[in-house]
Amino acid sequence: MRSVWIWIFTLTSLTAMAQQEPNYEESKVPAVVLPDIFLSEKGKWIRTIEEWEKVRRPEIFQLFESEVYGKIPKDFDSMNFEKVKESLNPYPESADLEEINITVRRNGKYHTMRVNLFLPKSGKGPFPVILLINYLPKYPDGKLVDESFWPVKKLIERGFATASFHAETVAPDLTESYQQGIISTLYPEQIGQPNGLKAFGAWGWAAMRAMDYFEQHPQIDSKKSVLVGHSRTGKTALWTSANDPRWAITYANESGCGGAAISRRKYGETVEAINRRFPYWFADNFRKYNEREEALPLDQHMLPGLIAPRAVYYSSAREDRWADPKGEYLGLSLGSRVFSEIYGKKAVFEQEFEALSGPVHLESVGYHIREGKHDLTWEDWRIFLEFVSKTYKE
Ligand code: GCU
Repeated sequence: MRSVWIWIFTLTSLTAMAQQEPNYEESKVPAVVLPDIFLSEKGKWIRTIEEWEKVRRPEIFQLFESEVYGKIPKDFDSMNFEKVKESLNPYPESADLEEINITVRRNGKYHTMRVNLFLPKSGKGPFPVILLINYLPKYPDGKLVDESFWPVKKLIERGFATASFHAETVAPDLTESYQQGIISTLYPEQIGQPNGLKAFGAWGWAAMRAMDYFEQHPQIDSKKSVLVGHSRTGKTALWTSANDPRWAITYANESGCGGAAISRRKYGETVEAINRRFPYWFADNFRKYNEREEALPLDQHMLPGLIAPRAVYYSSAREDRWADPKGEYLGLSLGSRVFSEIYGKKAVFEQEFEALSGPVHLESVGYHIREGKHDLTWEDWRIFLEFVSKTYKE
């Protein structure tokens, strides 16, 4: 009897494991039927900027907020900026380093977060600024200087100011403790809400506070601001920009599931897999779609349109199958219809994913795929910066 039970148990666990095995075969991708970006909930076809901005965009925004990412609260009582000196400037020749503590108060409580900003010493400001949302554990508390992941020196040489904060300055990247930052201190009423503030929303909130700092800085041209995220913070960057129109260019590198990639393809990481491992990233409502991607009232191709007409850039790495490079490309190429059909930009991706041979830099939307693994590399930055120069010239 005992061996029968063991046998049944093993069989059940094997079946469960088999279900969780990621799919990496294109032939096994289900036939995907996507909700139409331009069909309003009342069944009206959306054609003009006015209809888009008054009707369809708010509908799509509301769906992402309630079903995928959760809210980013915008209210607080006060905020103040304090410059501190804790670290040595690694580039004293070419840049000034500002370490800023931003303290935000709400309902008698406060939270302090840290932003590190490098400003070029040569050239005449105000400078365009690039903000990177960092989450790498080996660089705690925003003290990241890594010439590949965050190539400060090269960005400064090219005339940009550049800043970074660590995700954990507002919400730890862990299931057990993600609330131990702004969520429990400043916005406790969000806890337990099915569409409430979670870690991505908290990190996006922090990017907004960095932008508040840039806006009042005489040496920064905040109208030319770039928000950059890799992987989990690429997902965050997209949602942040959908919430905050102050970012001129948004760059999501290898953001994959719940970011750039179409969820319904179920290639690589799935909604179930991401919610199981990272239950604190997205709104609780997102779990309704575990193994039920078809039931989503939206898909990730609708996300770039929430940022339009401001520029959006995606990139992928060939070996990063977990993030579904083809799904990322499809997400942007379908999403760019808002840029071309509503805002009249030259933003039509003409190539199939399989035929791509180099970067595609269109008007306000761009994409590249490089060889190699999941990472944010200098090659990614270099190609992206070509898109930035082109966009700022237009
Ligand atoms: C995990 C996760 C991805 C995420 C990645 C990262 O692999 O499953 O969704 O993008 O971590 O942030 O590096």
